[in-house]
Parts: sequence; C-alpha cells; structure tokens
Amino acid sequence: MTAADPIPPTIEWREGAVRMIDQRLLPGELVFVEARTVDELCHAIRTLAVRGAPALGVAGAMGMALAAVTGEAPDDAAGRIVATRPTAVNLAWGVARGLQAADPVAEAIRLAADDVDRNRRLGAHGASLVPDGGRVLTHCNAGALACAGYGTALGVIRAAAEAGRRPSVWVDETRPVLQGSRLTAWELDRLGIPATLVADVMAGSLMGGGEVDCVVVGADRIAANGDVANKVGTYGLAVLAHHHRIPFYVAAPMSTIDSTCPTGADIPIERRSGDEVTSMDGHLIAPAGFAAENRAFDVTPAALITAIITEDGVLRPPFRL
Ligand code: MRU
Repeated sequence: MTAADPIPPTIEWREGAVRMIDQRLLPGELVFVEARTVDELCHAIRTLAVRGAPALGVAGAMGMALAAVTGEAPDDAAGRIVATRPTAVNLAWGVARGLQAADPVAEAIRLAADDVDRNRRLGAHGASLVPDGGRVLTHCNAGALACAGYGTALGVIRAAAEAGRRPSVWVDETRPVLQGSRLTAWELDRLGIPATLVADVMAGSLMGGGEVDCVVVGADRIAANGDVANKVGTYGLAVLAHHHRIPFYVAAPMSTIDSTCPTGADIPIERRSGDEVTSMDGHLIAPAGFAAENRAFDVTPAALITAIITEDGVLRPPFRL
C-alpha cells in the first residue's frame, strides 16, 4: 500500500511464503493469509482466498517458487496447481513461467511487479473510452484484488477517474459468491470512486432506462477468435448491451489471450459446488438437498464485444488473436 494506492498488494512473496489478502473475509476484515507449501497455495486458490485471472497468474508462478524452496518435484507441483481452477489461462501461464525460470522466486516477484505495470498501461489505453461523467456497469471483480494490483476493468475506471473524467459505477453484486458486492464495492469505496451496488437482475432495467453509458468487464480466457470467458452472467450483460447499443468492453492483459483455443467452445468452464448457489454465508437459501448448477464462467461471443482493451492497445473486431 502506498500513499497513492489505498489497496495493499493482493499477492506478494514474503520471506519464503506467498502472502495474500484473504478475499474470503472481505469486506468485513482485511486479513492476510500465508501459503508456505504448494498444497496450502492450492487450497487458497480453490477456496477463492486468491482469485481473478491475473492474480492467479502470479499465484501460479509463486506456487513454482514455493516448490523450489520446499524441494518439491516441479512437474508434479505444476500439475497440481494448474488443476485447481481450469478456466483462467493465466494460472497455467504463470506456472509455465515459473517452471521455465532459472530462479523461480525472482521470476514470481518480477511477474507480480510486471502485472501492476501492465494494468496501469491497460488502464491508460482504456480511460479515453469512458465518456466524461460516464456511468459504467461492471460485473464480478476485475480490480486490484483480481490482479497483483491496480486492476483491469476497474483499472480502466480508475485511470478514467485519475484523468478527471468523473466516472461512476454500477456494481453488479455477482451471484453466487458476490465478488461484486464484497470486493468491487470495497475497492471503489477505498478509491473514492462513486459507485452504486445493484442486484445482477437489474441490469436490463438500467440499460433500458438509458442509465448505462458503457460496460467494462474483465476476462479469464480469450480465444483466438475473440470469444471471451468471464464470470457467469457476463454473456447476458453483453446481449443486453448489444440490444441497447451500449459499448461493451473487455479489459484484459495479453496473458489472458489463449491463441491455442480457436473459439469459446474450446474454453474449459469450471463447475463449482452447488452449495455456493443453495446457501449464503452458511445459511440455506433453498430447500435442503435441492439440485443446483454452478458454472463459474460463461462465454461471450466476439460479435457482442465492442473492443478488447490490453496493455498493448485497444483491439477492435474482427479479432485475430
Ligand atoms: O471466480 P473468480 O472470482 O476468479 O472470477 C473472476 C472473474 O471472472 C474476473 O472477471 C476475471 O478473472 C478477470 S480479473 C481481472
């Protein structure tokens, strides 16, 4: 945390351990959790203590650093880390970077710093797409907490605010695990950017009422044809935005592009426990034992995307990635 940044680093290497903000406890408590072994890190990833594609990329590299310092076989550790969450390609990317590095600890530290630099560049590219006084709708959390720092979709909003464009934000609560209300709202509050929380189901009403100027979301994996996997619910927002002729922007670092995936149909979609849908904070909100489907991500076809904002510039359709 610096004077300029009210949000502490999401994930960092500290004295032989991976130190992370425990995102399971936000917004109630700002507490850090440490992983000293690959298994502890895998647990933190699976239980969403650390989450968000770029943060998972850094976590992957730091996992390989842990394997190096604890003397674990690198290939076995790599396999276990990559298997924790299948959709965000950044995780496998970070693991591969750590695996190839002569010094995995130095590489993980470098990737964390590099992530923040890239997000700042991405934000600078995207800021001018936000109209002056623009009302931006975002989904899930693609902020500093989803990265080593600064954020991608929230990085664009943050950069627009820093450039004096006075954006305000509609924050989707993002069922079922509420990354919007727990994390995005917490970040925007700390940043002092005006924001209003809405239930996911209100997006149509807001867009139909002319109260959204653009949508900016993050991504977990972008296929070669520009199809984008992101938090479930993103696809529905893109359809609504298209219907209402509202620009729909995806903000993601180049490491989220998977050129080996021809289309969105080739992106593996994580299935999580139905318990995340049938209960909230440990309380049942559905009949006990009721069936629940919990796809963590959906795929937005490239045809619904106005532009993809990266650290290297703004990509417009037709996408050939
Ligand atoms: O399940 P999560 O919380 O890891 O999902 C995160 C998202 O869907 C984000 O939008 C995406 O990773 C981009 S983060 C910059």
